[in-house]
Amino acid sequence: MIRAVITGSGSALPSNCVTNAELAKRVDTSDEWIVERTGIRQRYIANESETTSTLAIEASRKALEDAGVDASEIGLIILATATPDHTFPATATQVQQALGCRGGVAFDVAAVCSGFLYALGTADSLLRTGMAKKALVIGAETFSRILDWEDRTTCVLFGDGAGAVVLEAQDVAEDGPGILATRLHADGEHKELLYVDGGPSTTGEVGKLRMKGREVFRHAVVNLAEVLGEVLDDAGVPAEAIDWVVPHQANQRILDATARKLGLDSEKVVVTVDRHANTSAASVPLAFDVARKDGRIKSGDLVMFEAMGGGFTWGASLARV
Ligand code: UT7
Repeated sequence: MIRAVITGSGSALPSNCVTNAELAKRVDTSDEWIVERTGIRQRYIANESETTSTLAIEASRKALEDAGVDASEIGLIILATATPDHTFPATATQVQQALGCRGGVAFDVAAVCSGFLYALGTADSLLRTGMAKKALVIGAETFSRILDWEDRTTCVLFGDGAGAVVLEAQDVAEDGPGILATRLHADGEHKELLYVDGGPSTTGEVGKLRMKGREVFRHAVVNLAEVLGEVLDDAGVPAEAIDWVVPHQANQRILDATARKLGLDSEKVVVTVDRHANTSAASVPLAFDVARKDGRIKSGDLVMFEAMGGGFTWGASLARV
């Protein structure tokens, strides 16, 4: 059977690391509050020369090298972001140009923190229909550009970064590698709980992120537990068979609560929120790359990806790597 197989990964972070103590000099907060409520200790913030596309390009180059794939072989680029370099063209086309892979398909996906899951699910479908043989799936963000740096309830939570994977259509055995099942959801009912208060067609300004964190938290735990159950059912796999969960990194307490609901050992959950904070669409591929490169995630492992974000949007995907 034809499956989309992850054959490489890469990631990129801005050079500037900002600690909680540094933020406490700008807004009324403390390292103690941030660590206790979120698990975040530091985040990386892009400087003027670092943009969503420069981070995406660096992560993509590393992923291509890791997969041993030449840029010219890539027929599909899907880039998930809520912070594109420009309103248009799609940032994916800038990545395509920089990598030197012309002529294929390149587009952005806007599903905020679930963006990587949406991009992965879309790429999986397109590869299995034969539209392309090899794809780059990227999550890249510069959320620091849309933060209200006076609002302590949001500015301490986010960071910048990018992660990418190479996906290849391969003819594999039933128990072979590849994406086994994906479920994506959206519910526009709760827009006011997490949104940006601007845009090209409304204010004409980029706008700033606004969030009612406590309510988002509540929805996240319920929605994630539900979608994880759906994906396990679709794949016909029990929760105990999962080797690693690579979740969206919003809050250590959400990671713990979701693992508990699944009855999963917290040791199986990849955590980078302490180092990267919430990098929106970049957080899942960033965390995946960290755990793959440090040797935790090994060939043959069953890996569950999951995320929930603005929209609301949420989703999960199970892959044998
Ligand atoms: O990635 C997309 C999805 N996003 C998420 O999943 C985020 C989900 N939400 C969360 O992670 C948490 O709700 C937060 C980390 C955002 C907030 O944690 P919380 O435990 O829900 O705190 P809270 O919003 O209920 O606020 C508790 C108190 C408030 O003070 P009062 O009203 O109790 O006096 C806040 O004003 O903490 C205060 N507070 C802060 N204090 C110090 C809020 N932000 C800060 C801060 N420093 N940075």
